[in-house]
Amino acid sequence: MEEYIKTISADNQKSIVDYLNETILPHMIINSQGAAKGRRQLWIQTAPPLTSSATWHVGFEDERIMNYIRLISPPGFTPEAVLVTKGGNIKRHRDARYADYRGMSINLGKVTWYYERSNDQYFWQPGLHESVPVGRYDLTGGEVFMFNTKNPHWVENAHPDRWGINVWQISKNTRDDYDKFMENRANGNLTEEQLDYKVAGY
Ligand SMILES: [Fe+2]
Repeated sequence: MEEYIKTISADNQKSIVDYLNETILPHMIINSQGAAKGRRQLWIQTAPPLTSSATWHVGFEDERIMNYIRLISPPGFTPEAVLVTKGGNIKRHRDARYADYRGMSINLGKVTWYYERSNDQYFWQPGLHESVPVGRYDLTGGEVFMFNTKNPHWVENAHPDRWGINVWQISKNTRDDYDKFMENRANGNLTEEQLDYKVAGY
């Protein structure tokens, strides 16, 4: 982990998990592809493109969750795309082009989180040694931390009732596309496909 932000209290965890089970769970989809195949998940706010041929989609609108995330976010970090997950593991990967280097994870439950800290900064460093020891973190619930999304990371042993809230700021490389998408969104110019929030993630 790069930066440990805080630990959410047990009472507060219960409140947000109750809300997720009541309000978010009915809208979630099972990922059918990629590193997190079989995981239950839902994009909130905005669903970014995960490949170069994909497009931006709206996410499920939930201001209560967005406000909760904004209150937790450290200075200088703007939550723009959120993926909420329940149970399910994800294989070793780096986050796609849309993701800024600095991302946030909010863990609500038992899971083992792995991280290879090959780049210890939030910017591109040429000539880095790729081979570094794997960091293993046995999380129990309530952990909030920032990490470099371009470093390899994965999770195992996710408890079926474990919720994860993954939060991204949009990268400089995709900022222009994101701004165009948000302008079309504000003007009601999105396609039917882009208005479908039930799109897969990793
Ligand atoms: Fe990731």
